[in-house]
Amino acid sequence: MTNTLAPAAPGFSAAQLVPVHPADEGSEWWRSSVIYQVYPRSFRDLNGDGEGDLPGITAELHHLADLGVDAVWLSPFYVSPQRDGGYDVADYCDVDPMFGTLADFDALVARADSLGVKVIIDLVPNHCSSDHALFQAALAAGPGSPEREMFVFRDGRGEHGELPPNNWQSHFGGPAWTRIEEPTGEPGQWYVHLFDSSQPDFNWDNPAVHDEFKRILRFWLSRGVAGFRVDVAHALIKAQGLPDWHGRPDGVSTEEHPGHLAPMFGQPEIHDIYREWRKVLAEFDGERILCAEASIDPLSRLTNWVLPDQMHQAFNFAYLGTPWDAERLRSVIESSLRMFDSVGAPTTWVLSNHDVVRHATRFGIVEPAARPGDGLGVEDPQPDTGLGLRRAAAASMLMLALPGGVYLYQGEELGLPDHTTMDHTFRQDPTYRRTAGERIGRDGCRVPLPWEAAAPAAGFNLTGSSWLPQPDGWGSLARDVQAADPSSALALYRRALGLRRELGLGAGSLDWLEGAAGPECIAFVNNGILVMMNMGAAAVELPDLEVLLATDSEGAAQRKLGPAQCIWLRM
Ligand code: NOJ
Repeated sequence: MTNTLAPAAPGFSAAQLVPVHPADEGSEWWRSSVIYQVYPRSFRDLNGDGEGDLPGITAELHHLADLGVDAVWLSPFYVSPQRDGGYDVADYCDVDPMFGTLADFDALVARADSLGVKVIIDLVPNHCSSDHALFQAALAAGPGSPEREMFVFRDGRGEHGELPPNNWQSHFGGPAWTRIEEPTGEPGQWYVHLFDSSQPDFNWDNPAVHDEFKRILRFWLSRGVAGFRVDVAHALIKAQGLPDWHGRPDGVSTEEHPGHLAPMFGQPEIHDIYREWRKVLAEFDGERILCAEASIDPLSRLTNWVLPDQMHQAFNFAYLGTPWDAERLRSVIESSLRMFDSVGAPTTWVLSNHDVVRHATRFGIVEPAARPGDGLGVEDPQPDTGLGLRRAAAASMLMLALPGGVYLYQGEELGLPDHTTMDHTFRQDPTYRRTAGERIGRDGCRVPLPWEAAAPAAGFNLTGSSWLPQPDGWGSLARDVQAADPSSALALYRRALGLRRELGLGAGSLDWLEGAAGPECIAFVNNGILVMMNMGAAAVELPDLEVLLATDSEGAAQRKLGPAQCIWLRM
């Protein structure tokens, strides 16, 4: 069905509105929320030891409330040896001394509550740290014991059990199995770890593992969290018999095995776990949520994670992975909305997080990087910083006009790029070590935030110490500089978030505006707001409508939308 555009947009008389997504009738907060990801180690360091901490987050929460976010999601702050940035948990129900105490956590939640901001935390159910008491008990107890049954132990293949039980590869490189020494001192069984060898996978076929995680959920729900971002929510159950896998380690099917279900990912029984958890959430008041971090493609399969009796949201990595290409962007927006609409769940949108190259850097890579991996190093072709920043501002503004939930990653509101020239000696991501430097890893997007241009460590703390080095010029991107500059990335984000709320865009509708400005220009209407983003090389003409927000106000005044610019107009 198409409608001709109302004459309110002169010059656009031939354009047609093509409906894709109706306004959301549900009123739950998470259907249209903006959730801001805090990576605690790099947010703000109040005790000056070079590592961020919970009191640092509490002290700066008012900035996030001012920005206009509905909730913060905290990446792991639990007791951990930090072999995978805290995604290796040694105690799920306590705070690592590096970050503070449980009392600091309670103070953070209380402060957030007083500011009207919800707190979501990270749940890491696929694996724990090899330092976890349960894993230590499993090592001590020997083969066949109930302690071993908490994890996935198997005898090896080969005459003396010297070969791993199957061919699975770790997501971080190298084999997904490690052999242990038995309490007798003999070479013994192998355990599976889809990530680092310090991250043993739990055995989700064991009801005791289910009980343990329900206990953990209730522990944090009683402390007032609004929900959980669920790590690797596609991997908990492994196929019976643990068969070999010939596709990619991340489970994405290859051309030789199209649509193949990897034995370690997306097993049908996984959904029963989320049904159980949904019932646990229902024991508590308020609208508490689960958000899946599930690398499942295509989107039509991912919708199985957000059926009404399971999770509330799932990250939309298909959107995050879309390059600077109008046709592909239009296609992923449309298929996302249609797919999630088909199960009554909100679509989510995300451009950056702690696992990927920040979008201000990604969009500045004009020459495809030699390394396909997850980070950029000094040996790689370097991004065009100015282009990346322009495109990132436009892309963020477009995202903030889309109906559904938005996830922001700390520092993107400052337009921060990745640190792409970091000295390799500082790298901590296990990917770098496990691939002997073949994959650079994710440290570049985890650099401590700049708060004050003139302060030590750009205001990350008062001592100047920083667990990862900050790149040159970091201070010029600091929050205090941007807060005083109406043309800054921060000012743009703040205005976009304010208008998004005021105009109800998160719960709004989406109609394409076709035939208006050429194929390289994305144009859609949400709640009477025309959003246009020019992804082509030539400027396009703008209709004579009231400008609400623009990445380039001078161009907007001349009714032009230049390359890599975005605008919101009132119809
Ligand atoms: C996804 C997390 O986002 C990532 O940082 C982590 O390394 C893996 N899951 C393993 O927990």
